[in-house]
Amino acid sequence: MAAVLAGLGGALPAGVVTNDDLCATLDSTDEWIRTRTGIGERRRVAPGQSTRDLAAEAGARALKSAGRGAVDAVVVATTSADRLCPAVAPEVAHQLGLGPVPAYDLTSACSGFLYGLAAAAGHIASGVAESVLFIGAEAFTTMVNPADRGTAPIFGDGAGAVVLRRGTPDEPGAVGPFDLGSDGSLADLLAIPAGGARQRSATGGPRGDGVPAEDWYLRMEGRPLYVQAVARMTASARAVLDRAGWAVSDVDVFAGHQANVRIVRAVAEELELPDDRVAVNIDRVGNTLAASVPLLLADAAVRGRLNPGDRVLLSAFGAGLSWGSTVLRWPDIPVEEVR
Ligand code: UT7
Repeated sequence: MAAVLAGLGGALPAGVVTNDDLCATLDSTDEWIRTRTGIGERRRVAPGQSTRDLAAEAGARALKSAGRGAVDAVVVATTSADRLCPAVAPEVAHQLGLGPVPAYDLTSACSGFLYGLAAAAGHIASGVAESVLFIGAEAFTTMVNPADRGTAPIFGDGAGAVVLRRGTPDEPGAVGPFDLGSDGSLADLLAIPAGGARQRSATGGPRGDGVPAEDWYLRMEGRPLYVQAVARMTASARAVLDRAGWAVSDVDVFAGHQANVRIVRAVAEELELPDDRVAVNIDRVGNTLAASVPLLLADAAVRGRLNPGDRVLLSAFGAGLSWGSTVLRWPDIPVEEVR
């Protein structure tokens, strides 16, 4: 038995923010952002729009792509949930009219799509569900300090969703094996210090008396993260290829988490994967955390970069630290352009 990819859809908020838009208030340049990250523009939620809205839109598209009106479970990977409590997934299931199905969120930042895919596949393997709607959704620009030039240019909002169904390991679309890992000793390299239980217990409540304003926003140490990202994604990709019995030369498309185009290209170089096998969409969406890989897959499929039968390597890395990889052969599913 295997979990098989049966549908894919994405959603992006309408608001486009170009590098020049950002640089109107930020000490940076379009040239710096493009050359150091590969990002030209990103999307930002409109006032009042949130992760749940993007998740539901992407979820509806994935259901349509799969030709299904029902699933047995809904999982949302997000690090920008609408509220600390409750999870986004039950509201998404309700909004999509999916009934009283099991629904929960998981938080694994930029590797959320790989962790969630493994969790959803596990639900199918264990018999908990025969089909799962799994969505990576983020309104993470709301977590980023607009005055911090080290992070403000990098992140964007969006959602990508897949439907997984029970099938067999030899079918196109069967996901796995997986490689997942973490290193909590480096948790502080990418963190939002305030808002959680640690800050509340230290300051005596949620108001954050004495908490510096910047602590409510993401804090990121870019350089050491960059080094970790390349090393961890490369090692994880190698491990999963090994488990799958694939050579690097078997990979038609490398769909790596879009944190920085230089990271993706460096991983490909380490793996000795030619540039033309590397999928990229960071130029138009930035780093959308858990939504990054499914938005990339949708983009590649729509552009004809990803075709039925292609052997695909997925790999991601992010806060935690955490990372993960998997492989699949691309199935013949309809995918709509994400605008
Ligand atoms: O999503 C998964 C987790 N996140 C990541 O994997 C992020 C990994 N890190 C990165 O992608 C890169 O480290 C960044 C894109 C964040 C930064 O690029 P970098 O090439 O590592 O730059 P840097 O931090 O080493 O900074 C180089 C210079 C510094 O100036 P000095 O000290 O050399 O004078 C920065 O102050 O660039 C400066 N700088 C900027 N200049 C213009 C930093 N941000 C900016 C900016 N505009 N936005």
